[in-house]
Amino acid sequence: MKITLATQGYAEIPADALVCYAFEAADPVQGRMAELDAKCGGLLRRLSQSGELTGKPLEMTLVHAPAGFAAQRLLIVGAGKKEKYGTPELRKLAGAALRFLKARSVKRIAFLAREGDATADAAQAAAEGLIFAAFDGEKYKSEDKDGKKRVESVVLAGWDDRAAGEKGLERGRVIAEAQNFSRDLVNEPSNRLTPKILAERAAEMAGQAGLACEILDEKRIAELKMGALLGVAQGSIEPPRVIVTTYAPAEARSGGPVIGLIGKAVTFDTGGISIKPAEGMEKMKYDMAGGATMLGVMRALAALKPRLKVISVVPATENMPGGRAQKPGDVQVAMSGKTIEVLNTDAEGRLILADAITYAKQLGCTHLIDAATLTGAIVVALANVNAGVFGSDEKFTARLLASAKACGEKMWPMPVDEEYREFIKGTVADIQNIGSGKGGGAITAAMFLKEFTGDTPWIHLDIAGTAWLDENKPWAAKGATAIGLRTLVDLVTKFV
Ligand code: BES
Ligand code: MN
Ligand code: ZN
Repeated sequence: MKITLATQGYAEIPADALVCYAFEAADPVQGRMAELDAKCGGLLRRLSQSGELTGKPLEMTLVHAPAGFAAQRLLIVGAGKKEKYGTPELRKLAGAALRFLKARSVKRIAFLAREGDATADAAQAAAEGLIFAAFDGEKYKSEDKDGKKRVESVVLAGWDDRAAGEKGLERGRVIAEAQNFSRDLVNEPSNRLTPKILAERAAEMAGQAGLACEILDEKRIAELKMGALLGVAQGSIEPPRVIVTTYAPAEARSGGPVIGLIGKAVTFDTGGISIKPAEGMEKMKYDMAGGATMLGVMRALAALKPRLKVISVVPATENMPGGRAQKPGDVQVAMSGKTIEVLNTDAEGRLILADAITYAKQLGCTHLIDAATLTGAIVVALANVNAGVFGSDEKFTARLLASAKACGEKMWPMPVDEEYREFIKGTVADIQNIGSGKGGGAITAAMFLKEFTGDTPWIHLDIAGTAWLDENKPWAAKGATAIGLRTLVDLVTKFV
């Protein structure tokens, strides 16, 4: 899908549909809406008076052959109340408009900004919403291979400050394309995305983006004594990988911060010997969403070029109950030297992250952020609305939460108080990989990770509830969401 800035007046653009948006109010036909209304002979006012156009969030009012426009259709999307409106609403409504029109086989869209929205931030949000929404995750469906339902082009109109428009559009394009890259990986079934294949796809991406990429294979992983990762991997015939991608700009200050992005990539989680129930197990192909998010972040950073070094470490493995699988009660020695009693083989994410965190520190990371579909307990706590945020450093965590808010990704802070530490204290080994039945499952998992971070400022995102959509949304296809990517790109690009 091609997105460009308009080079002609919006009324003259020969699109299949011209899209604009109305705010919810007693009279939604104001500002740009009044301007459009005048061009089409009072049509919008009549629609408003009949109650068909109210401006309620994501309301769709579609008019064919509107007088006064070269476009074949006019679509007015509800933007909700003006007081509650911001870039998150713009992103969503742009996406919802695209999906609405795509379902009607529209190919050429013109998207018109409201007065006051002709900023770089708004262009970015609109581009993000449109490109994210164009992704349908249906690559294994045979029908519509001819692309009957594919939007070919979007023209952004109303950005009179073209420099601002171009800047926002470019940034939005980079971010949303990175999200779709990540979503495609997450949607892949596990037979088509083993740890080896994930590593190959990461290396391919890195090559294209201009990032350094090193793949640690099972031999190297053993040499590094990543016993926690190897313990999980030994139950599968598919060997593990650790995918290390590095963005190291020449302008990075020596002695400056180095951000470590660690993402859980269990390409399929059966639970291992502590096996999961059959119902819903197919969804465990998305247990590599944290890893895919971090790879997507790296892809975006390579294009946006912040002035600091960023290293991503993605441990990739299957969690299978094969003949050589680890068993409840087994003791593993992590790369850090800590011994772990594996009481439940289904608590595997924290095991592989433990070694990835140790490795990231060894590579010189001064700040750590991990993303992981880590616990069902975070879904109990926050449902599928907010991702859980756990942080050891107040300032660092506050910055992440501010980025999340600015980007419209919902995240909520969770505690990592010392009191929770005893939950994972070991009886047989230094620590155990599940709590001793006192509740707080998502916190227990975070505390386990914290054991490996030492004094390095660290943030953990538990995205188990938010990385996957079971149903389509007006602005997004069901499946992978790439949650966290926008926030992390925002945080890192504003870090120094
Ligand atoms: N991958 C799961 C967590 C998960 C659950 C992700 C639901 C997405 C949706 C993780 O490896 C897991 O199995 N966690 C266990 C931990 C338990 C054994 C302490 C869980 O949450 O049940
Ligand atoms: Mn598990
Ligand atoms: Zn898992």
